[in-house]
Amino acid sequence: MTTPALLHCFAPPARETFTEIVRAEGSRLWDADGRSYIDAIASLWYCQVGHGRTEIIDAIGEQMRSLAAYNVFAPWTNRPAEAAADRIRSLSPHPDGRVFLCCSGSESVDTALKIARVTARLSDSAERQMIIRRERGYHGVNFGGTTAQGIPANREGWGDLVPHFEQMDGDDIESAARLFTEHGDRIAAVICEPIQGAGGVHPPTDGYLEGLRTLCDDNGALLIFDEVITGFGRTGEWFASQTYGVTPDLITFAKGVTSGYLPMGGVICSRRVCDVLEADPDYVFMHGYTYSGHPASTAAALANIDIIEREGLVARATVVGERFQAGLRALQADGVIESYRGHGAMWAARLRGGTDAVGVRDAMVAKGVIVRGIVDSIAFCPPLVIDDADIDTCLDVLADCAPVPA
Ligand SMILES: Cc1ncc(COP(=O)(O)O)c(C=O)c1O
Repeated sequence: MTTPALLHCFAPPARETFTEIVRAEGSRLWDADGRSYIDAIASLWYCQVGHGRTEIIDAIGEQMRSLAAYNVFAPWTNRPAEAAADRIRSLSPHPDGRVFLCCSGSESVDTALKIARVTARLSDSAERQMIIRRERGYHGVNFGGTTAQGIPANREGWGDLVPHFEQMDGDDIESAARLFTEHGDRIAAVICEPIQGAGGVHPPTDGYLEGLRTLCDDNGALLIFDEVITGFGRTGEWFASQTYGVTPDLITFAKGVTSGYLPMGGVICSRRVCDVLEADPDYVFMHGYTYSGHPASTAAALANIDIIEREGLVARATVVGERFQAGLRALQADGVIESYRGHGAMWAARLRGGTDAVGVRDAMVAKGVIVRGIVDSIAFCPPLVIDDADIDTCLDVLADCAPVPA
C-alpha cells in the first residue's frame, strides 16, 4: 500500500488520519463530515479578518487578471508591492523606514537575522555576528529561525545549526545583561517576540522589553521584534512595539498582514538600519526571494488592511480580549483553571496542576472549538471578527473540558 503523498507539518510521518477542512466563513469552519467548529486560533494565529472575505478574494482576482506575478529583483517593480510596503511602513513605528517583502514568517526571520549581521559588517563591526535568542521563543523553521528558537524540541535533530547564537532567559532581564557583559562587542542583535506566541502566550514581564532596548543601545546591537503573530492589530495596536512603547530596529511580520489569504511576510527596517544599507551606492543587497513583492499577495495585503481599518479591528482586538479575560478570570475564581495570561486578542489558560494540555485540546476540538494546547496551557487567538456568543462558547467548552476541580 502506498502512503499518502502529503507529508504534513509538525506531524508523525506515519500518521494516516487527518481532519479535512472544506469550508470556512468568519470565525467558523466546517469539515468534510459536515461538523462545524469555532476557529479559536485563527487557523495558525493569522486570520485577523475572518474567513471567506470576498473583498480580498476579488482584489486578488482583479490583480491577477492584469499582472498575476512578476519579480521585484532589480530593475523590476510592481505597483501593489510598492503600495503595500508604503502602507505597512506608514502603520509601523518606522514611517521613514523601508520594508522588505517575502512569503512567510520563517523567511522574514532569516532575512532580519541576515540584515542584522550585514548591518554590523557595513558599519565596520564584522566581529558582531552573535544573535541572542530567548527561552521559549518561536521564530519559524528555516535554519536561522530554527537556531533562534528557544523551544529545544524544535532545534534538535537537524544537525549543526547556525553558529554564534546564545540564549537568554524568557523573563529575567538580568540574564540578558550577563550575556552583554560577556559578549557585548560581538552581539549583532537580540531577537524576541514581544508577546511569545507558540511558546505559550507569554506577555513580557515588566521592564523586560525596555531592558532589552537599553542593553542593545548601550552595546551597539540591534533589537529585532518578531511580530509575526503580534503584528496587524492582534495586541490592540497595529504592532506590539506600539502597545509596549518599545521601538525595535527591525520588525518581522507575516500572518495577519494578509490574514493568510495568500502567503506573505516581511521585515520593517528602521531609518538607522536603512542609512547603513544605503550609505555605499556600490553595495548590493544580495538577498531576495523569487516571490518577494508578489503582486497578488501584496494586493491581498492591501485589501486585508483596508478591512482591518474600515471595521475597526485593531480596537476590536481589545474588546475581544476583555471578554476572554473576564471569562478566564471567572474560571480561575471557580478553580477551573490555575491561571491565565495574555494581551489584546491572544490568551492562554493554564490548566490545574500543570495538566498536559493535549487531552483537553482534543476534547475541546471534539466539542467544536479549535484551540492550541501548549504544554499545560490552552491558547486562544481568534479572528478579530469573532462575536461575543462564540467567545462565550469557547470559554464554556474550556470549562467543560478542563480537569474537574477537587
Ligand atoms: C513569532 C513567529 N515567527 C515566525 C513564525 C514562522 O512563520 P511561518 O510559519 O509563516 O514561516 C511564526 C509562526 O508561527 C511565529 O509565530
